[in-house]
Amino acid sequence: MSESASRHVETSPAAQTWDPALYDARHSFVYKAAADMLGLLAPQRGERILDLGCGTGHLTAQIAAAGAEVIGLDLSEEMVREARRNFPQLAFQTADATDFSVSVPQDAVFSNAVLHWVHPPAAAARAIARALRPGGRFVAEFGGRGCIAKIIAAVNAALGASDAERRPWFFPSVGEYTALLEQQGFEIRFATLFDRPTPLEDGERGLRNWLAMFAGPYFAPLDEHRRESALTDVENRLRGELWQDGRWIADYRRIRVVAVKL
Ligand code: BEZ
Repeated sequence: MSESASRHVETSPAAQTWDPALYDARHSFVYKAAADMLGLLAPQRGERILDLGCGTGHLTAQIAAAGAEVIGLDLSEEMVREARRNFPQLAFQTADATDFSVSVPQDAVFSNAVLHWVHPPAAAARAIARALRPGGRFVAEFGGRGCIAKIIAAVNAALGASDAERRPWFFPSVGEYTALLEQQGFEIRFATLFDRPTPLEDGERGLRNWLAMFAGPYFAPLDEHRRESALTDVENRLRGELWQDGRWIADYRRIRVVAVKL
């Protein structure tokens, strides 16, 4: 843990494994697509900013480049290790988004493509509010209502089951999420839900790679033979709608929000 992070943050890490090399090699679109989020954050020189769910640290580094004093937090030790390797001059630390605290109030909390993984969402909103100074801002993007609805429907059909217990994501509507933030003492300045059709890398294998990286709870319990045939079934079901010009297009929908702590 870097000295600067240990000064500011107390953490409660939990177990989750990611493959950071695979993430950077094939799924870098997740942070590249959100580069314009930095415009919404508008980091200022000398501001204290927390990057919640920093992954391999690429957006954290861009926030630091604006002159902010930034700390990147991630639940995954593998991601934090890779972020430190990528950007050894920056502070990264493992932390649980539902249960972290800072000793110095932050000017902003930023989060990209993470909060749809975090349960319970109200606990994360509470921890974020606690980390901010009054007037501090929360700027986030993550999966919103209807995100990957076609992929989820095809997976359920291929597995012959509803995913109610296995679904690991929280995809709220604007109303649902802004109400949750207001309950934690935020004032909403901006909120929107939009389609973000997202091309997946690696041609024909793009959808399987994506499912391997992001949809483990559905496929991990299957033996290899059953997994292969389920993946082929999912591809066959989605080819008509999501295969275009030699690549898979994931039916992402995103929610973006800017809120100020009162
Ligand atoms: C994402 O990381 O952006 C994502 C993951 C799972 C479902 C939808 C989006």
